[in-house]
Amino acid sequence: MSSGLDRVTLRQEAACDGSGLGNLVTGPGAACFGEEERHEVLDVLASGHLSRYGRMDDPGFGHKVYSLECEFAQFCGVNHAVATSSGTGSLLVSLLAAGIRPGDEVLVPGFTYVASIGAIIHARAVPVLVEVDESLNLDPVDLAAKITDRTRGILAVHMLGNACDLDAVCKSPPIMA
Ligand SMILES: Cc1ncc(COP(=O)(O)O)c(C=O)c1O
Repeated sequence: MSSGLDRVTLRQEAACDGSGLGNLVTGPGAACFGEEERHEVLDVLASGHLSRYGRMDDPGFGHKVYSLECEFAQFCGVNHAVATSSGTGSLLVSLLAAGIRPGDEVLVPGFTYVASIGAIIHARAVPVLVEVDESLNLDPVDLAAKITDRTRGILAVHMLGNACDLDAVCKSPPIMA
């Protein structure tokens, strides 16, 4: 069963090629979805199974989450993928998986969606705001200046589909493990 990932990917490609969808992304928190996504959601409601848990041999259970995880892992060329309930949930899981502990400082761009900072606080870490440059992403110069011996992570954001310069981020002074 398809999770709809293939169609979502096509829509993202369409958004990037200037064919119009990208123009709908107007600011942080903007949503971009259409008939395909509506169909996948209604499919879940119609099945009556709203949880990820169900019997795989039950023809009414769509196992959408499991299908998405399998397809996404394949898409990324990795063995496993774990779906979360939201982007905010993914950020929190990623911070904890990266070993961020209470009190650690995490650098984050000052221009971002509130979830970036909220996830750091939820992990009981300390968000340290970094200036953005004309790309609206992390300013590598201010980033380097904000790294201290308490810094344990950098939460880079690719704002509004605009790729952050990760090469520059990786050339920042090393942070303590
Ligand atoms: C940059 C960024 N990070 C995180 C999120 C949070 O995603 P969600 O609303 O699914 O929790 C958003 C939502 O728009 C976002 O724009």
